[in-house]
Amino acid sequence: MGDTSTRAFYEEIRDGSAGAFKYAVNGTWRTSASGSTCDALNPSRGNARSSSFQACTTQEVDEVFTAAKNAQRGWAKTPLHARAKLLHEAARLMRAHAEPMALALTNEVAKGAKDARVEVERSADLIEYTAEEGVRLLGEGKLLMSDSFPGNSRNKLCLASKVPVGVVLCIPPFNYPVNLCVSKIAPALIAGNTVVVKPPTQGCTATLHMMQCFIKAGFPPGTVNALTGRGGEIGDYLTTHPEVNAISFTGGETGIRVAQKAGMVALQTELGGKDACIVLPDADLDLAAKSIVKGGFSYSGQRCTAVKLVAVFEEVADELLSKVNAQIAQLSVGLPEDNANITAVVSKSSADFIESLVQDAESKGAKLCQEWRREENLIWPLLIDNVTHDMKLCWEEPFGPVLPVVRVKSEDEALELVNKSRFGLQGCVFTKDIDRAIRMSDAMETGTVQINGPPARGPDHFPFQGVKDSGIGSQGITNSINVMTKVKSTVINLAQPSYTMA
Ligand code: NAP
Ligand code: G3H
Repeated sequence: MGDTSTRAFYEEIRDGSAGAFKYAVNGTWRTSASGSTCDALNPSRGNARSSSFQACTTQEVDEVFTAAKNAQRGWAKTPLHARAKLLHEAARLMRAHAEPMALALTNEVAKGAKDARVEVERSADLIEYTAEEGVRLLGEGKLLMSDSFPGNSRNKLCLASKVPVGVVLCIPPFNYPVNLCVSKIAPALIAGNTVVVKPPTQGCTATLHMMQCFIKAGFPPGTVNALTGRGGEIGDYLTTHPEVNAISFTGGETGIRVAQKAGMVALQTELGGKDACIVLPDADLDLAAKSIVKGGFSYSGQRCTAVKLVAVFEEVADELLSKVNAQIAQLSVGLPEDNANITAVVSKSSADFIESLVQDAESKGAKLCQEWRREENLIWPLLIDNVTHDMKLCWEEPFGPVLPVVRVKSEDEALELVNKSRFGLQGCVFTKDIDRAIRMSDAMETGTVQINGPPARGPDHFPFQGVKDSGIGSQGITNSINVMTKVKSTVINLAQPSYTMA
C-alpha cells in the first residue's frame, strides 16, 4: 500500500484502515448518513469483496450539487494560469502517490499490474497536456467585424470567447476508472467548471484515490466532488438533477438512457463499439495478425476500441488466421498481479454473457479455433471462424477475449458488415494500397478509421468519437474543452461606422 507518506496522503479517504471509502464534498471526505455501503468485488478472486464505499442518499446528492454550484462562480473567476497550475499539481501528486491507485485497478477491475501503472501515468500526462492546451485555447477569443456580412457597415464589433457551462457531472466506466475520469474532469476544470464525479462500482476506489490528488492539490472547496453509490440506484437522480449543466458519460447501453432522460444540458457520451478489422488481400498479414491480437485481446478485450470483428478476404483468410492462432497460443492466462495477458473479465454476468454468445455461434455452425475454456470470470482467448450474419456474435459486443471472424468476398461485403452495425466507434483497414484504404475509410460509418493499425483512442489529444449508438459529441483534449464551454459574445455598437467607402 505504498510508503508511509503515501499511506498518510490517502488516510482520510477511508473510514479506518479497513473500513469503507468515503465520498467527497466541499474538499472533505464524509461517511454517508444512509449507514449503507456498496461493495466492489475482486474479479480474480471468485468475486470476493475487495472494498466498500458509501451509498449516498438523495439529500447528500443535493448537498454535493449545491456545493459544486456555489463554488463554480468563484472558480470561473480564478485566473486561467492559476487553474492550470493546480492541474499540474494534481498530476504531480498522482505520479508521487500512484501505487494504491494502481493496486485498486488490479484488485477491482483485474487490470495487469504494469498496465495499471501505465493508466495512472497516462492520466497524469493527460492532465498536464490539458492544462497546457487550456491556457492557449481559452486564453484566446475571436473578434468579428460586422461589415463582412452583406448589408452591414463597419459599426459593430463582436468579441466572442469561451466561458464555462457550470457544473459538469462526470460518469466514467469500470475499464478506465482513472483515465476516463481525468479525461472528463481536467477539461471541465481548466474551463472554469466545477465537477461532480460518480465513480463506477468496479474501480470505485481507484477513482476516489485519484480524486484525493485533486483535493490535495489545492482546488477550492466544492470544485471537485465525488458521490458514490450504485449507478442503478442513484444514477437517474444524478443525471436528471436540476443543477447539472453538462454530462460527460462513458459506458454502455446505460448511456443511451442517460441521453434520453437528460434535459437541456450539454452531452458527451462515449458508448460501446463493434470495431471491425478489415483485411484486404494485399495486406501485410504479419502486421494485420499482430494488430488483431493486440487489438482484440489486450485487457482481455474489455476496451471500447477492442477489435470486435475480423472481416478477412477469403483468399488470405487461412494464412491470416494461422498467424493469429499462433500468437494467441503465446498469450498467458492468469492473474493481473502476474501481468498475465488475459485476466478475469469484470463480473460473473459479463462472463455468462460472453459464454452465451459463444454457445449461440457454435450451435449455428461457427468454428472454434481454440477449445472453449472458462473458470469463473476467467475466459481463455478464443478466435471463432466462419461467423455468419445470423449469429449474435456478429453484432453484439462481447467485451471479453472472444473474437469472431467473418470471411468476405468483396469490399462491399466488408463495408456492409461495418455499416449494418448499430455501433460506429472505430474500424481498421489493412492494405498496402493507400487509394483503396482511403476509399474504404470514406465509406465506413465510424468515428475513426485506422489504416494499417488497430483501433485505439490515444494519443489522448486525438479527436475520439462514435457515431450511431457509439456516442454523441467528441472527446480528445481540445474537443472535450469545447464541449464543456459555451460561447459568450459581447457586441460593441459604434455610434458611427469606423470607416465607410470613400
Ligand atoms: P455501464 O454499465 O454503462 O456503466 C458506466 C457507468 O454508468 C458506471 O459508472 C455506472 O455505475 C454508471 N451507471 C449505471 N447506471 C446508471 C444510471 N442509471 N445513470 C447514470 N449512470 C449509471 O458500462 P461499463 O460496464 O462500466 O462499461 C462497459 C461498456 O462501456 C461497454 O459497452 C464499452 O464498450 C463501453 N465503453 C465505451 C467507451 C468509449 O469511450 N466509447 C469507453 C469505455 C467503455 P455502476 O458501475 O455503479 O453501475
Ligand atoms: O474503453 C474505451 C477506451 O476509451 C479505450 O481506450 O483505446 O486507449 O484502450 P484505449
